[in-house]
Amino acid sequence: MKIAVAGTGYVGLVTGVCLASKGHGVTCVDVDEQKVEVMKQGVSPIYEPGLSELMKESMDHLTFTTDYESAYKDADVIFIGVGTPEKVDGSANLAFVYQVAKQIAASVQKDCVVVIKSTVPIGTNDKIESYIHDKQKHNVSVYVASNPEFLSQGTAVKDTLHASRIVIGADEEKPAEILKKVYQDFDAPKLVVGRRSAEMIKYASNDFLALKISYVNEIANLCETVGADVEEVTMGMGYDSRIGDRFLNAGIGYGGSCFPKDTKALSWLASFNDNEIRTIKAAIEVNDSQKFKLVKKARKYYDDFLFLNIAILGCTFKPGTDDLREAPSLVNVPLLLEDGAYLRIWDPVGQDNFKKQIQNKNIQYFDTIEEAIDGADLCLIFTEWDDVVKFDITKYEELMKTPIVLDGRNCYPLSAFEGTKTTYCSIGRKTVNDR
Ligand code: UDX
Repeated sequence: MKIAVAGTGYVGLVTGVCLASKGHGVTCVDVDEQKVEVMKQGVSPIYEPGLSELMKESMDHLTFTTDYESAYKDADVIFIGVGTPEKVDGSANLAFVYQVAKQIAASVQKDCVVVIKSTVPIGTNDKIESYIHDKQKHNVSVYVASNPEFLSQGTAVKDTLHASRIVIGADEEKPAEILKKVYQDFDAPKLVVGRRSAEMIKYASNDFLALKISYVNEIANLCETVGADVEEVTMGMGYDSRIGDRFLNAGIGYGGSCFPKDTKALSWLASFNDNEIRTIKAAIEVNDSQKFKLVKKARKYYDDFLFLNIAILGCTFKPGTDDLREAPSLVNVPLLLEDGAYLRIWDPVGQDNFKKQIQNKNIQYFDTIEEAIDGADLCLIFTEWDDVVKFDITKYEELMKTPIVLDGRNCYPLSAFEGTKTTYCSIGRKTVNDR
């Protein structure tokens, strides 16, 4: 099938490459000429495990262009995978989606299905369909269908090729049949529902996961106060298949491009419709304060951070990605700098992006964890990178000036620190070697 994909971010590019790997002819469209040039060479502009390899293998079926007209005019299916960032009031900004819809209306010369993959408020598919029908230049049938993505960054390729489910939101049979054909070689359950339900499935799923994390974080905070261990607690909870044992990791809160944005968008949408979704509001509030948990803990050890050398391990919102969106590091680093600390940052792939966002003469970047913790008065772990998890913990004691490790991602078993001189304080568990 001839497929066009608008937008080459995490969603658009991964979708385009995965569809090409199944033999579809895919043209990926982006406004960024430089990015398009890079992709034409078979190079992925984003860090995503397995993406570069699959892209290289599928180049025979892939085209990259800024020329949307040629891409859309005779496509059978056009996926919209552009961003829907958060507006100041928490609602989703649909400007990019409408921009693409406008270009589609001006370009299509053949019957086609426009598929909205971007996360959009309930009712957007209806509006985009009317918008395209009003503006379209040629008299052809344009259907609009919803097909939300459920990919996680860091496992996006795997999550797309082996999806937990493929949700097809269509109000007519024809677009549903065409989308089933697009995905016929994907080994995943295919679910055909109404368009509005498909849009809601995406928000309801993401927000449920965010809620689960905030819930477990509150349980973790209580565990600290009452002397229980959150990992033992979640292990006990997870055996109940109604609860499940995934997404129960306590920590310094969720970040990323989806949970923070989608919780706020659903909450906004509810209040806009004279409803209130109180559970999600609470999840947002809990997450906002959880992000500062490590710095709050650090104040127990130091009255202020003036002239302290603080090692920061990890700045991305999770491992396996160079993405910093809504990462706890982004709100904590300015706070520490404001207090006069010297920061020694290590992150295997996120450093370059971090440098672009926060420039300060009191930040130094290091290639190894050893260098970052060398001589430090405090070490804060924001991301559970494999290198951190597998790090020889005796080195904290050996290299730090004062071995105090505050772990926001529970990277180590408590027993690892027993018998050492390192103070190890994590989330929802007792502190080892407290001082
Ligand atoms: C998420 C959803 O998982 C995915 O289905 C959706 O399509 C997009 O949003 P992503 O943002 O890439 O994916 O990452 P995810 O692995 O879900 O983690 C999000 C955040 O939650 C991270 O900051 C992570 O550290 C945090 N998290 C996750 C926890 O704090 N505890 C957990 O148990 C799981």
